[in-house]
Formats: sequence, C-alpha cells, structure tokens
Amino acid sequence: MFDTAIDPALPKPLLYAELARAAAALVDGEPDPVANMANLAALAALSIPQLNWVGFYRVQGEELVLGPFIGKPACIRIPFGQGVCGAAARTGEVQLVVDVHAFAGHIACDAASRSELVVPVIVDGLVRAVIDLDSPEPARFDPEDAAGIQELAAVAARFL
Ligand code: SME
Repeated sequence: MFDTAIDPALPKPLLYAELARAAAALVDGEPDPVANMANLAALAALSIPQLNWVGFYRVQGEELVLGPFIGKPACIRIPFGQGVCGAAARTGEVQLVVDVHAFAGHIACDAASRSELVVPVIVDGLVRAVIDLDSPEPARFDPEDAAGIQELAAVAARFL
C-alpha cells in the first residue's frame, strides 16, 4: 500500500523536494514506463493543490501522444509546435502560461483550465515526453512550480 505523506499545504520548495523524493522511491527498480508514469501522475495529483489535470504526453515521431494522467479525458495527439504542450516539445523549454486564453493556439481539453505548466522530459538531449499540469485558477503556476516539476521530470528521465 502506498500512503503519501506529502502535505499539499507545505511551502512549495518543501513540497516539491518531498515530491521528488517520493517519486524516486516509487520508480526505483521498476523499468516499465507506463506503470511509472501512471504512479507519478497519481502522486502529483494527490500532492499538488489546485490542479484539474496532470499527466504525460510522450513523443512519438513528430507528435505527442497522450500518456498516463489524472483528469478528464484529453486530446490524444498533439503535433509538435501546436498548443502549450507542442511548444514545450518543439523548443525543449518549460512553458509557464498564466492565462491560457492569452496563449495563441492553446488546446482546451478541459474548459475549466485557466493556467498551465508544461515541462519537457529530456533524455540525452532529446525531448522524450512532457509533463502537463492544468489549473482552474488563473496564474496558478510560478517559477517555483516550474523548478519543482523539473525535478519530477528528472526522475521521469530515468525510465523514459
Ligand atoms: N492544453 C494543452 C493540451 C493538453 S490538455 O491541457 C490536457 C495544450 O495546449 O497543449
């Protein structure tokens, strides 16, 4: 049984340090990427407050394909360069969007989403996946969240 001890009310640096520690423990010794992505999505959904969607899109050729997530059913394929996720995949850079309605080309999978954070998972210099977080709160994410999710992406890079 997994019993998360991460308190979503912790200050962000502490919360993300705990999240990275718990994530590393969850994937330790398990090579299956689907199982590991599913567990990391569940861990993030339990630990990070004010989210309506969190999960993975995996790079397959020139597009992203939906991976394990927690949230409403989402669009399955996103070409590189389209939407917030496609921008992260194309550039290899974190996309921190304080207002999704102001992001040209944002793909609305859940009409409740108001802000979004997408962090690439980079292995050997190549983007292998992205971690996508959506919030119903405007301006929910800041650079501390981006740095914290980059720690999670570093854990994901071990098995992707
Ligand atoms: N909003 C994303 C699409 C994925 S969903 O948010 C789950 C985008 O613009 O790429």
